[in-house]
Amino acid sequence: MKRKTALFFVCLLALGNFVLAQKKKIGTETPEQKKKRMEWWTDSRFGMFIHWGLYAMPARHEWVKHNESLTDAQYQPYFDLFNPDNFDPKLWAKQAKAAGMKYAVLTSKHHEGFCLFDSKYTDYKAVNTPAKRDLIKEFVNAFRAEGIRVGFYYSLIDWHHPQFPIDRLHPSRPKPESDSAYDRMNQHRDMAAYRQYMRNQITELLTNYGKIDILWLDFSYPGKRGKGRDDWGSVELLKMIRKLQPGIIVDNRLNLEEYEDGQDFETPEQVKVEELAKYHGKYWETCQTFSGSWGYHRDENSWKSTQELLRLLIGSVSNGGNLLLNVGPTARGEFDQRAQNALANIGKWMHGNSRAIYNCTYAPAAFKTPENTMLTYHPASNRLYVHLLEYRKSLVLPGYKGKVKYAQFLHDNSELRIAKQEGEDVVLNLPAQKPDVEIPVVELVLQ
Ligand code: GLC
Repeated sequence: MKRKTALFFVCLLALGNFVLAQKKKIGTETPEQKKKRMEWWTDSRFGMFIHWGLYAMPARHEWVKHNESLTDAQYQPYFDLFNPDNFDPKLWAKQAKAAGMKYAVLTSKHHEGFCLFDSKYTDYKAVNTPAKRDLIKEFVNAFRAEGIRVGFYYSLIDWHHPQFPIDRLHPSRPKPESDSAYDRMNQHRDMAAYRQYMRNQITELLTNYGKIDILWLDFSYPGKRGKGRDDWGSVELLKMIRKLQPGIIVDNRLNLEEYEDGQDFETPEQVKVEELAKYHGKYWETCQTFSGSWGYHRDENSWKSTQELLRLLIGSVSNGGNLLLNVGPTARGEFDQRAQNALANIGKWMHGNSRAIYNCTYAPAAFKTPENTMLTYHPASNRLYVHLLEYRKSLVLPGYKGKVKYAQFLHDNSELRIAKQEGEDVVLNLPAQKPDVEIPVVELVLQ
């Protein structure tokens, strides 16, 4: 009897733990079905983020309206004068493709509220500026024509919509802050009305432009004077999105962390490569800028070097994730020269080395990372890639004895002979002269 009671409690405890460990679910997709849906994205590894809006005109950060507490009236000249006369998305698509990017995500609306697309629900759109047209439509057509998958960024936040309740991030937040000041300002603002506006616009984006591969919603900041899932109506919104575009991939910024399927991938923003190891085994994409701000910033001088950009790309793949690298086109509709150069340099490297990026992930645990290198691994061909961050005349592969069948440089398939085995290590001879490759890659055909 005693034993039976004990057993009963053990079972109860186990059941309790099981229930606690289970996260809530919104849909019915299995992990295998998700894996399949995510496959093209996981294989692609490299995409282009594009932040483009009225903020390209002040050219001093896409948060300029917030940073400088600008009023609608002060922001109005950017709308009245927005005239991207050199906008040629075919050129953007060609540059993205040459850099090796497989998908692109463009801001259909950023926090400023301005829409690049032709929406029935607002006048605050490109069609009503001197640009006079639906810029999203041209983007979608041009990128698809180059075989690049298309995604939309859509800001949940809206600093222009008259119904969007003023919160701690809003450009016209009261100073000094007090509950009564907020109440006074929000008297005639109605979140339910804004919620409907968002649903209407997202419906337009997901019905008027054909198949959309990614929706990148940005962002939640729950808590006092913030906004989160209840404000956005996130659960219902996500259901609607999946119904309109069943195959679509959605980011994790709807504040649905408590649901197992409340997001498709995580979005570590502007993090260092060292911080990416903790994401192994998950779906994730790190988004990164060339120089700090996402929108075009004329005076920012903190541009990353080609070496740094490649380390971000390789570092992402070597930790099992994607890199979404951002370009902020100018108000004339072009990638500025610094961005063009950076993309071209990445493209030059990718031309010889993309085999170590696409369809790749982190190395199996049996392979230690040689000093001053990063490893990527191509499971389908069982090849390991050693990215040489610092060039030297020989490469020690620690504990690789008996594991390597053949070694070559990836950019030209030129053989690298095994110089010797030392204990469990394999030592490769490299040419004295570093090849003309920013980060040379050694391809190991494994046993
Ligand atoms: C942040 C910023 C935004 C940018 C985004 C990209 O949430 O608010 O300006 O678009 O990150 O990840």
